[in-house]
Amino acid sequence: MSRNVVVRTIDLTKVYRTFWGKTHVRALDKVNLEVYEGEIFALLGPNGSGKTTTMKLLLGIMFPTKGKVEVFGKSPRDVEIKKDIGFMPEESYLYRFLNADETLTFYANLMGLDRTERKRRIDEVLETVGLTEARRRRTREYSKGMSRRIGMAQVLLKDPKLVILDEPTIGLDPMGAREIKDVTLELKRRGKTVILSSHLLADVQDICDRIAILHRGNLVTTDSVENLLTIEDTWEIVVRNLREDTRRRVEQVIREGGGELQSIGHPRESLESLFLKTIKEKDIRG
Ligand SMILES: Nc1ncnc2c1ncn2[C@@H]1O[C@H](COP(=O)(O)OP(=O)(O)OP(=O)(O)O)[C@@H](O)[C@H]1O
Ligand SMILES: [Mg+2]
Repeated sequence: MSRNVVVRTIDLTKVYRTFWGKTHVRALDKVNLEVYEGEIFALLGPNGSGKTTTMKLLLGIMFPTKGKVEVFGKSPRDVEIKKDIGFMPEESYLYRFLNADETLTFYANLMGLDRTERKRRIDEVLETVGLTEARRRRTREYSKGMSRRIGMAQVLLKDPKLVILDEPTIGLDPMGAREIKDVTLELKRRGKTVILSSHLLADVQDICDRIAILHRGNLVTTDSVENLLTIEDTWEIVVRNLREDTRRRVEQVIREGGGELQSIGHPRESLESLFLKTIKEKDIRG
């Protein structure tokens, strides 16, 4: 299956020079990436590994030192493609005295949307990020998770085809992070391509199709989450209501077949799902 390439980097290299030009920081070194249409792609790496630098180069707000970037087959500085790219920076600033409606109206006016179009788009993006009910509350009362969602709503106003989110879940609790992840999945469902960055694998593994791991500006690996995390030579069988004697027989059969039994026991819930479940139950009980 041939897939449309939305973003391609070729030997992308960025060297920052400090003010006096004495020291150089090689923030990216010959990075080759491809991002396909309709996928959620994660740039994963520790602090300073080059995630934000990559995004700034994709957005055309900075020049590569060497190498090339193509977005929708064009240079990111091409005005024609600007309207198709939405970007949410690591920190977005809100006018604390405005409510969600007013905030989005402000941005929609900057974009020059007419009244009817403006109303339609604002209703739509508030629905997408799940803030319809909170639209008349001032943004200064918003939790961090809600603030991040209004940031996403701003990005979505112009209905971009490619959405770039820099550390969208940073500083959020598991519930806030889950909400952002759900909005991200919703974007994918609507056919958008999403590139996001994170330094936590746990924060991206359940929503991303493919991941690139960066370390000190080098691309360590890029592959599907499935390929990266599947342990090919090991099998897992999960059974409910297994009788003790049957279990012993299964173990016996495995040994007779030459298999090496590595572990047998009760599966564990992830701490994240336990946390979310506990909080939800508490919410229901009040
Ligand atoms: N404007 C700049 N001038 C000089 N060096 C810079 C500049 N911006 C980034 N760097 C350096 O480039 C490297 C990569 O930085 P970048 O911000 O891309 O990393 P990151 O992966 O986004 O990190 P974080 O997780 O902290 O956001 C770091 O060593 C950083 O110090
Ligand atoms: Mg960064």
